[in-house]
Amino acid sequence: MEFDPKWLTDPQVFQVNRLPAHASYMVRGADGAPLEQTLDGAWKFFYAQTPGASPQEFYREGYDVSGWDEIAVPGYIQLQGGGKYGTPHYVNTQYPWDGHERLEPPAVPERYNPVGCYVRGFAVPQSWDGPVCVRFDGVETAFAVWCNGVFIGYSEDSFTPAEFDLTPAVHRDGENRLAVRVYRFSSASWLEDQDFWRMSGIFRSVALFTKAQTHLADLWVKPQLSEDLAAGTLRAELKLEGMCVGEATLTLDGKTVLAPVTGGHAVLELPVERPRLWSAEAPELYTYEVTLTDAAGHLLETVRGKAGFRRFELRDGLMLLNGRRIVFKGVNRHEWNCRTGRAVTMEDMVSDVRAMKQNNINAVRTSHYPNRTEWYDLCDEYGLYVIDETNLETHGTWQRPDGAESALPGDRPEWLGAVLDRANSMLQRDKNHASVLIWSCGNESFGGRDIYEMSRFFRETDPTRLVHYEGVFHDRRYPDTSDMESQMYTPAADVAAFLEKHPEKPFIMCEYMHAMGNSCGAMDRYTRMTDVIPQYQGGFIWDWVDQGIETDNCLGERCLACGGDFGDRPSDFEFVGNGLLFADRTPTPKLAQAKGCYQDFDILPDETGVTVKNKSLFTDTADYVLLVELTKNGARVKSSECSLQAVPGETARAELPFAVPQAPGEYTVDASLCLRENARWAAKGHCVAFGQWHISRKAPEKPCTLPVTLVEGDCNIGVHGRDFSLLFTKNAQGSVISYRWKGRELLQRPIALNFWRAPTDNDTAAGMELAHLPFKTAGLYAKLRRAKAETDGTSVRIHAKYALPGGARANVTYTITGDGKVEAALKWKGKAVESVPEFGLMLTLPAEYRNVAYYGMGPGETYSDFTSGAHMGLFGFDAHTALQPYFNPQESGARTGVQAAAVTDAAGFGLCLAGNGFMLSALPYTPHEVENARRQYELPPKVKTVVRCAKGQLGVAGDNTWGAGPHAEYHVALEKGETFRFTFGGMGGNG
Ligand code: GAL
Repeated sequence: MEFDPKWLTDPQVFQVNRLPAHASYMVRGADGAPLEQTLDGAWKFFYAQTPGASPQEFYREGYDVSGWDEIAVPGYIQLQGGGKYGTPHYVNTQYPWDGHERLEPPAVPERYNPVGCYVRGFAVPQSWDGPVCVRFDGVETAFAVWCNGVFIGYSEDSFTPAEFDLTPAVHRDGENRLAVRVYRFSSASWLEDQDFWRMSGIFRSVALFTKAQTHLADLWVKPQLSEDLAAGTLRAELKLEGMCVGEATLTLDGKTVLAPVTGGHAVLELPVERPRLWSAEAPELYTYEVTLTDAAGHLLETVRGKAGFRRFELRDGLMLLNGRRIVFKGVNRHEWNCRTGRAVTMEDMVSDVRAMKQNNINAVRTSHYPNRTEWYDLCDEYGLYVIDETNLETHGTWQRPDGAESALPGDRPEWLGAVLDRANSMLQRDKNHASVLIWSCGNESFGGRDIYEMSRFFRETDPTRLVHYEGVFHDRRYPDTSDMESQMYTPAADVAAFLEKHPEKPFIMCEYMHAMGNSCGAMDRYTRMTDVIPQYQGGFIWDWVDQGIETDNCLGERCLACGGDFGDRPSDFEFVGNGLLFADRTPTPKLAQAKGCYQDFDILPDETGVTVKNKSLFTDTADYVLLVELTKNGARVKSSECSLQAVPGETARAELPFAVPQAPGEYTVDASLCLRENARWAAKGHCVAFGQWHISRKAPEKPCTLPVTLVEGDCNIGVHGRDFSLLFTKNAQGSVISYRWKGRELLQRPIALNFWRAPTDNDTAAGMELAHLPFKTAGLYAKLRRAKAETDGTSVRIHAKYALPGGARANVTYTITGDGKVEAALKWKGKAVESVPEFGLMLTLPAEYRNVAYYGMGPGETYSDFTSGAHMGLFGFDAHTALQPYFNPQESGARTGVQAAAVTDAAGFGLCLAGNGFMLSALPYTPHEVENARRQYELPPKVKTVVRCAKGQLGVAGDNTWGAGPHAEYHVALEKGETFRFTFGGMGGNG
């Protein structure tokens, strides 16, 4: 048979000569060595923009490839060659050729369908006398294989393995030539319309393998449990090929059973008394071994694996794990590495699984395709619940005007085979993983009969797991496609309302909390719901890591690029970045928010004790150390460790071993549950849950008695004291233009009114700019109407009245005392408004004042709806690195609940600030400068520190990034007369 290019556009041809899918495991031979060898490494490579432009007969044995380039396997074509091989292309739901070539399924682009021709040599190991096969773990999106000029096979489905038998073509001695042609687009592209970078290549490993005379073709290990979970049986179902004579054994915990091999199947069972149960909290695994021997008792093959005993079921309308109601504290994860794309490394995966565990994430959805098989090993071992998702998304086909009718695969018989094949390849590969609890039929592929058939396939083949599909929400014709109601981005209140009416099925949010830019506000609305609505069993944040690509920008500097930055069009630009992590895997502040919301324990300290509610399924609080600390003004004054016992579902209380003093000060009682011993994913002492009680006991203020002088000039009002002077100009600028402390000027610009913040991605999507338009200019173009000063000898008051664009008015009163303290009071004189982005003043200091220390909510940034990972304390940051590097520069870095702060130079000289729980921001830019820049490298040089003090700022929101603004309680409303007060003054210097 020869390769036929028509296969590329025939949905019914998704494989030719591919070997049957089976579980992934490593087979070892008689000597214990793997019966496989890697073909990863450098391959000869030729790139062409269309199949027609590529060398047609390159797979022939004599074809000269010596002049070709080399490319790394595994790897993406577009991320290698320094731009020679096209660029990655980011689109969300639209197809990448939209507007370039008018296509109907199953057609593929003709003018631009890059192919990569790959060639490499290999030699068959001397010791191999059985069949010689090749396995491709992942090739995007379609490929054909030749060996020594002989056509071997063809396969689609980028994310599951394809194996072929090379035996008839292979030379046992000497060199062989393996040739692969990889197509960027095929009919399969219609089924792979995920919201990700569109690229192609052999992006996962390739291996050559052989088989012993009797070969373990497949293995399904089924840990089974008695109804009361007390007794277990490990059942191993073996599929055999080859001679099929001899014996098979199964060994576990030192016990072995054996069975004669007389045909293509064998079943082995071993009882396990009181098995230790697997869960994400305690990922107990048993190592088993399966062997095959020939009739003479010689060892042929050995396979080792890990099994977890657990029962996942739907009972009385709830999802239960080992009998307990499970709550998914989940995240969606695309495979991503900012240098190699979806060709992720072992280090990437280990880093991800550890970071997830460290941040209380217990579940992951492999959005939206099966991941590298090692990922599931890690989830088994570290403990993460997995929704394993079929590689299927056809979003672009049903976003058209004819919507439902044009949706693929719909009820179409010609796509059914491909769809079922994808499901089968995933199920067969991943079926032995304890972590996989749910099979997902794919993402956003509408509804219909084909996907219903897929769900039936899962259920019938594997009754030990549940089936998930969100598309039922869009097409309710086949409600049985999904065992649970699954929705995305539904507001929490609507979830509750839905469950009031439809409590029959358990409910999960397969995507929620759209973590694009500064986001994830009010996440606790969802997580609190898991405590009160039994059917609401959790959700999966969208998503884990920004899909940014490291490249050079137009200034020749390294940067992380997003969609469109490669000239890729059409594009959905920054939408490719919605991660809790930045693309280089540094955490964004959103990770702390998620960690706080996903705690398994509610910790509620008060003035006399600590109450702990255990919401875990299987873990006793006594497994952790309870650390209780008393702090005064941010410093620890008392600390105690104890053990508190609350079994899952129970609440316990410990009394404080100390009293909270009555003397003035800022006090907190901090309580945390910490790891007693090193865990696989974090060191001893790591905090898994935290709670705080805070009280502010204010000391009566001592009036300042130092003298202060008022100088009424023609143009300026001057105020002078021992260590300071202040100038208020009455001219056009109309503001405080100078504050000198011990002879040094601290203001680089006049103090300004500020009502604006640089819009976040969520803001822009929700139309925040238009809705708040007058407030963009209100601070920029405020005009002084009148200023007057008065003094009583111990203080000076300057009253300034401003007219604002749009007809509103605001007053600022500065009250200055002899110690240099300035109380600023900003008063709103306009009509009541329901929402303003921010309400405060902006002080601009020279750049050297960039060290910020504060007592308030931290340690990371906080907003009114973004405090779940934060608490009161004494924290610090560098103003010049406080802006988060989101693709689109936007508001970030703020702190709420601030009582006191200092913004100083390296010697501690600078400005101190105080107030009553105000919002503090310190950045090297004004909000307008941040707003103007559309990429980080467009931001102006860091020549100042812009300090914003405000009564409040709009919450960051997070329900989605296509219209959902902050919830009502996180808006800053202004009554007429609304006043914000804070004080500033100099600090540091000699004496
Ligand atoms: C969802 C989709 C995700 C992603 C997200 C927006 O509808 O399933 O893949 O596109 O929207 O970021």
